[in-house]
Amino acid sequence: MFGVKAGSCLIVVALSISVVACNRQQIARRLDFNQDVQPILASRCFSCHGPDPEMRKAGLRLDLAEWAMKKRDGHRDAIVPGHPEKSELVKRIESKDPHYLMPQTAQDEAKPMSAYEIAILREWIKQGAVYRPHWAFEAPIRPAIPHNTGGDPWVKNPIDGFILAKLEKEGLQPSPETDKPTMSILSTGCLPSLPSANSARAIGSTTPDTLILTACIMTTAGTFGPTATT
Ligand code: HEC
Repeated sequence: MFGVKAGSCLIVVALSISVVACNRQQIARRLDFNQDVQPILASRCFSCHGPDPEMRKAGLRLDLAEWAMKKRDGHRDAIVPGHPEKSELVKRIESKDPHYLMPQTAQDEAKPMSAYEIAILREWIKQGAVYRPHWAFEAPIRPAIPHNTGGDPWVKNPIDGFILAKLEKEGLQPSPETDKPTMSILSTGCLPSLPSANSARAIGSTTPDTLILTACIMTTAGTFGPTATT
């Protein structure tokens, strides 16, 4: 009898572990601090663990690496690079206990993050919790062009290469190319400054050169955005 009970208990334990594993979102790419991590920390944590010493809670500051990883007497390590399971930060954001869970509201109420946000912070710590300075202070690095011209016929210049790569990532197909008259109407609507009837006449020939010329005239005229056209 005991054996049966022990057996059923084991099954229950095994099931609950698999449920936890299924609920956890996986991120399978190299994360970029500025693009992926900083926006989450800034919107979710900095109000209480950011630069403002008046508002800071538990002496924990998460916006600078040296502070976030500093040993604090009587406190567990918030971030242990490479070890999400040893990091108090991860325990706090994954906790099911509303008194322990982070982030909180100013009224001390639990305010859980999305599964995606939790997975990003966990994965970032797993990848070494690398902080980077604001992108404006970093030397730009030219990225590899994902699709070169001469490969996919849709790609006519390097910018198309990046667009196609993003479409593929989202599982989308490029739309068919718009005909020239529609394109002229769209461009006059977006960049008004010439009266639309005049611009339609001006680009009546709808050759690519005329289109580019019209767009140039409109942008250099100094007006931007969808204001009223006559
Ligand atoms: C509205 C305020 C508030 C926000 C927002 C907030 N926290 Fe906290 N946090 C606290 C308070 C208060 C404590 C101390 C009480 C406690 O330990 O629960 C704390 C404690 C912690 C601790 C334990 C610190 C220690 O060493 O004792 C960690 C880790 C932590 N927060 C992580 C986070 C993370 C990560 C976020 C964002 C996802 C976050 N917190 C957002 C208020 C906040």
